[in-house]
Amino acid sequence: MSRYHPALVTLHWLLALMIFVALAMGTFALDPIPNDDPAKIDALRSHMTAGAAILVLMLVRLVVRLRTDHPPKADIGNPMLNRLASWAHWSMYLMVFGMVGSGIAMSAMAGLPPIVFGGSGDPLPANFEDLPPRAAHGIFATIFMLLIAAHIAAA
Ligand code: HEM
Repeated sequence: MSRYHPALVTLHWLLALMIFVALAMGTFALDPIPNDDPAKIDALRSHMTAGAAILVLMLVRLVVRLRTDHPPKADIGNPMLNRLASWAHWSMYLMVFGMVGSGIAMSAMAGLPPIVFGGSGDPLPANFEDLPPRAAHGIFATIFMLLIAAHIAAA
């Protein structure tokens, strides 16, 4: 029987850790800091860098997943549940791309790159609440947390 490629297993656990930290830090460390607090720029720098690293590793994982042999999918014993599991797994890739996409859109609309990475010294906008990608980022985060909880329960 074929096994999961070791790179896939390593990437799975590395990404699990990085995504857990990004979700937890985003919710409990980044969001509560007001934008006029000088610590916000450092928090954004770490968060945005980690988000970009997650995207790169997720793309590598997707390519390895599509190009390597892997064991047959677990049979839960109910065709509808099997379909639901497969749907949930692909949804997690979608969530990562949705989170990173909305994060980058928010960052571009708020003009963050020169402030966060370029040391422009300009202030951050008062908040990000008026930007549509901000709402999407929060909604994707909630869906992602629910999917992760279901994934852990199912495993
Ligand atoms: C998988 C990758 C990512 C995860 C899991 C993630 C997670 C989160 C979470 C959980 C929040 C708080 C949401 C809330 O409480 O409503 C947040 C906020 C935020 N994220 Fe991300 N994020 C990711 C990628 C990115 C990227 C790539 C960027 C920018 C390039 C970004 C920029 C932001 C910004 C600007 C905020 C708003 C902070 C605020 O409102 O004060 N994120 N993120």
